[in-house]
Amino acid sequence: MPHQFDYLIIGSGIAGLSYATKLARHYDEKGQTIRIGVITKVQADETNTKYAQGGIAGVWSPDDTFEKHIDDTMVAGDFLSDRHIVEIVVREAPERIQELIDYGTRFDKEADGDYDLAKEGGHSDKRILHFKDVTGAEIERALLSEVARHKTIEIFTHYFAVDLITRHHLGETVHRYDANNECFGAYVLDTNTGKVDRFLARTTMVATGGIGQVYTNTTNPVIATGDGIAMTYRSKGICKDMEFIQFHPTALYEPGKKPNFLISEAVRGFGGILKNIKGETFMENYDPRLSLAPRDIVARAIDSEMKKSGSQHVYIDVTHLDYDKFIEHFPNITAYCKDKLGIDIRKDFIPVVPAQHYMCGGVRVDEFGRTNIHHLYAVGECACTGLHGANRLASNSLLEAIVFGHRAFEKSIESFDQTSLRDDIPAWDDSGTTHPEELVLVTEIKRELEAIMSNYVGIVRSNRRLKRAMDRLELLYIEHEELYRQSKVSVPITELRNMIEVAYLVIKAAMSRRDNRGLHFNIDNVK
Ligand code: FAD
Ligand code: SIN
Repeated sequence: MPHQFDYLIIGSGIAGLSYATKLARHYDEKGQTIRIGVITKVQADETNTKYAQGGIAGVWSPDDTFEKHIDDTMVAGDFLSDRHIVEIVVREAPERIQELIDYGTRFDKEADGDYDLAKEGGHSDKRILHFKDVTGAEIERALLSEVARHKTIEIFTHYFAVDLITRHHLGETVHRYDANNECFGAYVLDTNTGKVDRFLARTTMVATGGIGQVYTNTTNPVIATGDGIAMTYRSKGICKDMEFIQFHPTALYEPGKKPNFLISEAVRGFGGILKNIKGETFMENYDPRLSLAPRDIVARAIDSEMKKSGSQHVYIDVTHLDYDKFIEHFPNITAYCKDKLGIDIRKDFIPVVPAQHYMCGGVRVDEFGRTNIHHLYAVGECACTGLHGANRLASNSLLEAIVFGHRAFEKSIESFDQTSLRDDIPAWDDSGTTHPEELVLVTEIKRELEAIMSNYVGIVRSNRRLKRAMDRLELLYIEHEELYRQSKVSVPITELRNMIEVAYLVIKAAMSRRDNRGLHFNIDNVK
């Protein structure tokens, strides 16, 4: 028998959990019994959300204004952001952040009881609420404890969504721009039993996070394999802005370590200064905003300094800052530097390198998180709402997730009565497949994929590099598809399939863009 839900949510980060919580509260208040299923491919808190350091942006201080936050977001996005969406997100921010506080999220306060607002690159004012340097872990904790209060929500840990169920599975041919495609839930692998079940739902949400694992250097945890984007694309969903990959300028330089530990941008907001391998400042040669210029500019400047000197990293210097205050604000960063690399931040510079950090594009959605497929929503990092344009402003992504989680909630309760569960969805068919004997092939293809993306589709691109990337990717695609078709479904094979598809979307979008905007910089576009 298939599992049946009113709402199925794929992902237990800030996007999925904030939506689930809102639904549960709403129906509890109405006294209506419904079933909400949240699936997550490992344990519930293993998400990008948990690793967020800097904080969540929102106009909070009386000196700040919505207009300034809107302008900062537009400037960071190189004016490719959708202004209407930017206005929605910025203006709804205080109410949504207050809800996080009401769920029990702690943000640091000053001695007078006001919130201690931090500043990050591209922000013209202090507006980042944070909990030390572990804000994401605190938000995830609060949301999970709120979720636990609601019996209507069932969390399925170690369940892996393989494919969305759409009209295609009823034997119909659906094209990408057809208006009548519908989603009926997902095929989901129980990773403990190896069995694929139907998880049927009236409404489905993809909240699967980012794509970082496609690159060799990334701040993203291992779950970030772009599954939701690839699944939706395979189901004929539309993706947008996939060329805009954000590289965080300052991941800790720790060769061979994946994911890379992050040195938060808030460290520069606190007074940390970027220096090159010779210990000289260099940002004055690139941007008047110096170490706090938007990320695309800082990452390119670092890339250029590393290329000029042949070095593997640059530094952040915090030796001049008040140590006691620093450690109070950044206990996790200070401890990590000391324990893992023996760096004493009172006298040593911190070695840093840019690393893939965030996917600005994703599944195209409207102002309520709706995709082009009926009854399918996408929210959080996997979605492209139009907020980020060509480059995301720091600390705007946690914010986007709660604003769109709320908007998706409002729209999906409105259409509840117009949806129903199907009883004619075929069971998963894996006849003719076997358990693959050589998983080494998967590891090898993955390694090649990471190298292609890192070498040819990184911070600085060229037509030649992009073509090379596409040609090489095609070979990997053919090799992997053959393996996939012959094999019983498993997490590594399916994740790799998703990563190849996402890489294809990134390269295709990068090849199509003829101008340099925000995070997309192609030397052949320089006039
Ligand atoms: P996630 O939190 O990544 O959750 C994804 C969920 O989907 C997980 O539960 C995962 O298991 C599940 N999933 C994925 N695929 C499948 C599948 N096939 N089947 C089942 N489940 C699946 N942003 C800010 O605004 N401020 C910050 O300070 C900040 N700092 C950051 C620091 C780091 C180190 C990183 C990596 C990111 C940071 N970001 C920050 C970005 C931000 O954390 C993410 O964009 C945001 O948390 C994404 O939330 P999400 O709910 O969309 O996805
Ligand atoms: C950071 O703390 O530097 C990350 C902030 C973000 O990605 O928004």
